[in-house]
Amino acid sequence: MNIAILSRGVGLYSTQSLFKAGEKHKHLMEVIDPNLCVLSIENGASVVRFHGDIVDDLDAIIPRIGASNPYYGSTLVRHFESLDVFSTVSANAILQTRDKWTCSQLLSKANVPIPKTFLGFAPEAETLLSNFENKPVIIKILEGTHGNGVILAETYVSALSTIETLNTAGVKFVLQEYISESKGTDLRVIVVDDEVVATMKRQSKSGDFRSNLHRGGSSEKIKLTFEEENVALQAAKAMQLGVCGVDLLQSERGPLVLEINSSPGLEGIENTTKIDISKKIISYIERNKR
Ligand SMILES: Nc1ncnc2c1ncn2[C@@H]1O[C@H](COP(=O)(O)OP(=O)(O)O)[C@@H](O)[C@H]1O
Ligand SMILES: [Mg+2]
Repeated sequence: MNIAILSRGVGLYSTQSLFKAGEKHKHLMEVIDPNLCVLSIENGASVVRFHGDIVDDLDAIIPRIGASNPYYGSTLVRHFESLDVFSTVSANAILQTRDKWTCSQLLSKANVPIPKTFLGFAPEAETLLSNFENKPVIIKILEGTHGNGVILAETYVSALSTIETLNTAGVKFVLQEYISESKGTDLRVIVVDDEVVATMKRQSKSGDFRSNLHRGGSSEKIKLTFEEENVALQAAKAMQLGVCGVDLLQSERGPLVLEINSSPGLEGIENTTKIDISKKIISYIERNKR
């Protein structure tokens, strides 16, 4: 098969890992930088050009669309979809998971448990905060990533001033209950084709509450409880993602989904679990293109 990885970074661990897994399975692998593609609709047909050449020989794509340009990345995926190229994640799913509020809406619509969350839009910040009983709150900008754009406001005054500042700057955000009992940990679950394939627990570095490995967190391989596994699978299904990373918080009332990643980083989890996730993604493509 001809398989393209849509990625801005040829040298990135995840891109390389997928590339090698595809080659091992005797596929012709290539990396396409979404930002170097030219899209058009000509005589009613979708056309993708890369370095001037029309790309019309692909069987499948693996979008690795980063945070920087979800609109352009997803519209490229949609172009390939209309060319009947199999994609491990759909254009819609990329857009829907990109924004933390939309993601929360769709998860709760599918009865997936999430922390209590408010859209940070109200006439007055005090009105929003009155729902949190003076407890610490989490404030997240809608399109943050790697722990950037997540704030723990421990006092009423810091929450109030943060909300007012974000409103003044015109930044969209959500307000969320702080799950303190998770103590700076979360679970990263990789789901491929309705199956949990790898799981790790991440612990924030001392002094931080964000467990992202990009923020210096550490990780260990773990086994999920039946309930955690179920919630992760439900979440992947709700967002219609064939491949994704689901982040769970272990709360007093059971697992809560924090967010879903349509391009989960593979380096941390493959190194922590020693599981070849890329191979599982390639096998997923093979099952669908048979
Ligand atoms: N409501 C919350 N309660 C406790 N910790 C949280 C909460 N929301 C986020 N965190 C911590 O902050 C980290 C980053 O938040 P997340 O929503 O996943 O944003 P990002 O997209 O930047 O990773 C999480 O992995 C978790 O450790
Ligand atoms: Mg996260």
